[in-house]
Amino acid sequence: MTLQGRVALVTGGGRGIGREYCRALAEAGAAVLVADIDVASAEETAAAVGDLGVPAAGLGVDVSDRDSTLALAAAARERFGRVDILVNNAAIYHSMRMDPQLTVDIEYWRRVFAVNLDGALLMTQAIAPMMIESGWGRVIMQSSTAAHLGGGGHYAVSKLALLGLTRGFAKELGRHGITVNAIAPGVVFTEATEATVPAARLDQLLAMTPLPHRAQPQDLAGTLLFLCSDASAWMTGQTLIVDGGLVVRY
Ligand SMILES: NC(=O)c1ccc[n+]([C@@H]2O[C@H](COP(=O)([O-])OP(=O)(O)OC[C@H]3O[C@@H](n4cnc5c(N)ncnc54)[C@H](O)[C@@H]3O)[C@@H](O)[C@H]2O)c1
Repeated sequence: MTLQGRVALVTGGGRGIGREYCRALAEAGAAVLVADIDVASAEETAAAVGDLGVPAAGLGVDVSDRDSTLALAAAARERFGRVDILVNNAAIYHSMRMDPQLTVDIEYWRRVFAVNLDGALLMTQAIAPMMIESGWGRVIMQSSTAAHLGGGGHYAVSKLALLGLTRGFAKELGRHGITVNAIAPGVVFTEATEATVPAARLDQLLAMTPLPHRAQPQDLAGTLLFLCSDASAWMTGQTLIVDGGLVVRY
């Protein structure tokens, strides 16, 4: 599943799962553009990835802002010529509020959608034209098992809606040699998870998981590389749930 010669862009690559995705893509040989609203963290990831011997750069972006996504696409074209792989990983997740739908403030709801859903739309709109030009591309949407566990709320609904976006883009972009698939991770013990999900709830979910392992971002890397490589060439519009079996058991 080599990605030698490919150029990858990961949003939300400054920390957590996004940072691990950048590392995995670099180890597979891809040049990596790390984009994050926190520019310093993006630069840190890029420096670590650069140490693996591939071209890397850290850039700022607010995925919810169209001008910002277009500026990022222009910078990517200038520095790397094109983007072959887009990983839409950025989201409001760390320290997010858990308000019920009945009372959630509409402005907060809209902000979560602006980043988690519109962000993936805007980034794909900005980057896909470069893939269309080269006739090859991979778009990966970072969903969540939250979309599959039957709950609601701003986060779960935004991650469920991403699956609709995945299918829509799969239909539109397939004839250009571009596949669009989603990964739905279960509980991954990032700093964001520890800050967001109460410890008792994490214990409860772990106890229900058929493969009861405190998953780390590395546990998703193989799936990402599969979806980015030619090994998944005839697969599009799909979601791979990577959760130690939690959804099956839930
Ligand atoms: N950790 C888990 O258990 C888990 C499970 C399922 C899905 N996910 C998803 O995986 C992704 C990463 O999760 P994580 O645990 O690393 O979370 P995280 O909060 O640490 O990472 C999110 C990243 O997105 C960036 N970001 C936030 N808003 C942005 C914006 N407007 N523009 C650009 N970048 C922005 C943040 O700065 C951060 O680097 C998220 O999409 C999350 O919803 C996580």
